[in-house]
Order: sequence, then structure tokens, then C-alpha cells
Amino acid sequence: MTSLETPPAVLATPAQTKVRFPEGFVWGAATASYQIEGAAHDDGRGPSIWDTFSRTPGKVYAGHTGDVACDHYHRYPQDVALMADLGLQAYRFSIAWPRIQPDGSGPVNPRGLDFYDRLVDELAGRGIDPIVTLYHWDLPQTLEDRGGWTNRATAEHFAEYATAVHARLGDRVRTWTTLNEPWCSAYLGYGNGVHAPGRQDPAAAFQAVHHLLLAHGLAGRALRAAGAQTLGITLNPTEAYPVDPSRAEDLAAVRLVDGLANRIFLDPMLRGQYPADVLEHVARFTNLEHIRDGDEKIINVPIDLLGINYYQPTYVTAREGAAGGGGAYPGTEGIEFVAPVGPLTDMGWMIEPRGLTTLLVRISEDYPGVPMIITENGAAFPDKFNRDDPDADGRVPDADRVDYLDGHLRAAHAAISRGVDLRGYLVWSLLDNFEWAEGYRKRFGIIHVDYLTQRRVLKDSARWYQEVIRRNGL
Ligand code: FCB
Repeated sequence: MTSLETPPAVLATPAQTKVRFPEGFVWGAATASYQIEGAAHDDGRGPSIWDTFSRTPGKVYAGHTGDVACDHYHRYPQDVALMADLGLQAYRFSIAWPRIQPDGSGPVNPRGLDFYDRLVDELAGRGIDPIVTLYHWDLPQTLEDRGGWTNRATAEHFAEYATAVHARLGDRVRTWTTLNEPWCSAYLGYGNGVHAPGRQDPAAAFQAVHHLLLAHGLAGRALRAAGAQTLGITLNPTEAYPVDPSRAEDLAAVRLVDGLANRIFLDPMLRGQYPADVLEHVARFTNLEHIRDGDEKIINVPIDLLGINYYQPTYVTAREGAAGGGGAYPGTEGIEFVAPVGPLTDMGWMIEPRGLTTLLVRISEDYPGVPMIITENGAAFPDKFNRDDPDADGRVPDADRVDYLDGHLRAAHAAISRGVDLRGYLVWSLLDNFEWAEGYRKRFGIIHVDYLTQRRVLKDSARWYQEVIRRNGL
């Protein structure tokens, strides 16, 4: 039995017990450019696919856009000061490609780089280590007009862009990650159309998977050649469980979902080869001509750190006539993705910390030798902040978020106890922000943002996290 088939046992360290993380464990928070920066037209920024998508009626809740967001582009000194108050040791943020190359290729816009230059200096002044994500979904629109991630050239452009950013920030930024969650870019962007650019085409989704991986490989090699110290990527592996572990059909369903969500990325990246069963599946939707000889070798660039984003597990069962995972998992008809039960977050996501333990253990067993870091984990809950209530001033009670984080940190710790080389934890998110298709109505921050005034108020979870960091434990 592989760890994947192991039904989730109770693994996490029980609540209330004292927990200490290893010496040097890194504590931080994460954000992404389009979700917080705003300043959509400042200093020569070009349009991204999310500008276009959010302006397309019906795509984003209430027509929200990232035009202003948290106005972090102008308020970053204040935001970095808040990070310092919390004691954050690392800050993961992404670079907006359309600020650096407004058209996605060609001349570099120095004013776009200036912003990240100022941000990195501000962080250095506070002793906070920057963790750069080069791509968190805001593809320059011009590149999408030429096919976006279905076009091989986009991967080549990405490597040029990565090189340009490294040339400016590489003297101060040690940790470079190429992509955030290519699963979302490919399957939600080109498969079921829930994310920008909103296409619904299984063939396009699989081409996007490959070109994103190729982009990772090409950029990774360019960054290494330029002397980048720590190279990584962030994935959101799906921890899939069979509803009935004794049913062969349910185990087969898990295997398929695991192939489409996890092995399709992890195998070429870390073993230099797509899994045969996955290629066979992909070939039902598109010929494999977009995968050229030598590509897997490029994708297999050595990495120093694997970023894991985890929010909830997935339960699947084989049932005749079931609709499957829609465009997000092409070809899964006959598989039911079972609606979550039990306590849910405001996203309707299941709260199941032990899924994080089993996921981390499984990856470290199947792909040994790569240190990991949790690059995102957190939860949306409705906040009870009332700007007009003087009694509420200065406080946002969010015990539900504290519980979620506490449970997941215990789960992460349990994985460390089982031998997983986990180097750090970055909470999602520092600030409430633009939650993609959900707009601003879902709040993931440990810091509340009042979008009318741009005032920031620490939630109770932020104060709690400050203590966790101070103690290096729970
Ligand atoms: C992840 C994204 C991040 C945020 C969280 C809630 O998939 O990487 O930007 O939206 O989900």
C-alpha cells in the first residue's frame, strides 16, 4: 500500500499540546501581485489577462477588479512595517510580469522594476527575507492574444523575463520560485474557464500544462546560470482520498486524479519523465506533438525547494453517470468529486488538517531529497469588523481562522516528526485581498483591509501568529 492509499489516520499533534518547530524554521506570509498591488495603470504597467477577465461581465463576483486592490503599490512601506511588527522572517510576493514587460516580451520597463527594487530594500531594512514568485497568474495580455500558455513561445519569453528580473534584484533576493500553482493556470484558466483567460478546452489545458512546465525549466536554468542561490516552484498538489478505500474503482479514481493533478507536474520536474499512464490519458484529448524531444530534460532542472500550497483534501468515488471534475480534470466522467462535509471555510472548503500531514509525507517518500516549504495555507472566514463601532476599534475577532491555522501547523509539525524536511510556513495571506473569481468578498488575510479607507487592522489571528513566531511553536 502506498501512502496515497492509506486512509487518513489521526496523525496531527493533538490540540493544546506544546509544539516546537526546528531551529531555523522560517515563518512568513504570502501575497500575489494582482491580488494586492492595485496601481493597474501606474509607471507603464501593461494589461494582464486578469485585467481583461475581471472586466468581462459575469466572470468575477460583482465585477470586482484588481485596479485598486489593497493599493499596496503605494502603501508598501506601511505594509512592510506591519510585517516587521508581526515578526515575519520571510515575505513571499510575486512580480507582475506586465510591469516589467508591458507587452510580455522585448524591452524591459525600468519603472516597473523600480517598484520591486524599493520593496526589496524596504524588506532588507526590516530584516525580512524576500521570496520571489515570478508568475502568479498575471500573464501579459499581449501574450495571451498570441495563444498564451498554449503557445510554446510564452515559455521562452518567460525565461527572458525571469532573467531581466534577476538581473535587477538578484543581488538581494536569494530565493526564486518560478510559478505559482501551474495546475490552476492550466486547468482553471484553459480547462474549465473559472480563471483568466477563461478558456474551456481540454486540449488547450494540457498544452498549457506542458508549456508552464517548460517555462519553469527554461527559467530555472537561466536563473541558475545567473547565480540564483535557491531555486524552487510552488505547486498545489491535490490530496485525493477514496471514499471507500476497499473499492478498487475508488482507488482507480484516486490514481487518475493524482495523475492529472500531481504526477503530471512532479514526475517531469523531479524524475525527468511524464508518467506513461498520464500521457496515455492526455493523448485522448490532444496529440502529444507539443511535447518535444529534450523537453522533459529541460523541465527536470534541479530545484532546492518545493513550495506546497495546501487548503483542503479531495474525496472521490467512482459512480456511473457522475459528471467528473469538469474541465478542471478532463476525462474524469464517471468520477464523483464528493461535496465536502463537516466544518467548512467561507470558500466552502473542507477543514481537514491531517490531509496536510499525509500530503507532505507522501511527497517526501515518492520524491525524496527535495526540501519543502509551505508557501500557502490559510482560510477565508467572514470577519466581524465594523468601522463605525468604536468598541470594535482595533480588533477583529477571528477565532475560526486561529483554529484553522493552529490545526494546520500541528499537521505540519506531525509531518516533520515523521521525517519530512519542511523548512518553513508562509500563511496565506498577509492582507485581505482580491480573491480571483470571488473578488473581495472572501477574506483570507490575517490583517483586515477596509477597502473604503484602505485602513489595515490586525485580526486576532495576526496577534496569535506573532506569538507563534516568537515562540517558534504552539
Ligand atoms: C491559491 C492561490 C492564492 C489564493 C489562495 C486562496 O490557489 O495561489 O492566490 O487565491 O488560493
